[in-house]
Amino acid sequence: MEAKSPSESRTTLTDLVLPSETNPLNNLFGGELLARMDRAASIAARRHSRRIVVTASVNHVAFNKSIPLGSVVTVEAVVSRAFKSSMEIYIDVWVEDRESGRRTKANEAIYTFVAVDETGTPIQIPALKPETDLEKERYEAALRRKQLSLVLAGKMKPAEATELKALFED
Ligand SMILES: CC(C)(COP(=O)(O)OP(=O)(O)OC[C@H]1O[C@@H](n2cnc3c(N)ncnc32)[C@H](O)[C@@H]1OP(=O)(O)O)[C@@H](O)C(=O)NCCC(=O)NCCS
Repeated sequence: MEAKSPSESRTTLTDLVLPSETNPLNNLFGGELLARMDRAASIAARRHSRRIVVTASVNHVAFNKSIPLGSVVTVEAVVSRAFKSSMEIYIDVWVEDRESGRRTKANEAIYTFVAVDETGTPIQIPALKPETDLEKERYEAALRRKQLSLVLAGKMKPAEATELKALFED
């Protein structure tokens, strides 16, 4: 299976924040942003694997900045590493200034998707070949994040998480 570049999975969703999607402070409701990120990540995972994909884990979400009613929000998702059947998807969220059009980073998240066959069984996917410095940085760190996610999910013993242990050794 030929390795793919991150640009082949890059997915951009742009949409408004409507009144029904806000909290009592008139900012975007966190669950609505999670759903938008899940949709974009799912398309990125599908573009990389060309398979049925399912969300296996939300590894990290940082709601750094609130997003006001009426904002134009862009969710950009890209595969940052592919393993055997699982993919790490990195998501950046941007808000566009109405007057200048300048985009400001509002939030980011990391999801794990798994490619499955018609019976829901995990299936082999192509590798990822990072190209830019940022893509290489995210690729390198992805194994550590996978191990952390598996340990937290009780699917890996901490003693087996070699990449995590290496963080705490000289
Ligand atoms: C995701 C799912 C297919 C994994 O099945 P599984 O029986 O755990 O399969 P495996 O143990 O072989 O894991 C498959 C891959 O997922 C990875 N994985 C599983 N759980 C993970 C987690 N919590 N974090 C990171 N990776 C995880 C495994 O490391 C493995 O990766 P690899 O093949 O790239 O090495 C299965 O749990 C599932 O179908 N879950 C429901 C998904 C769903 O419905 N999502 C929508 C939310 S409602």
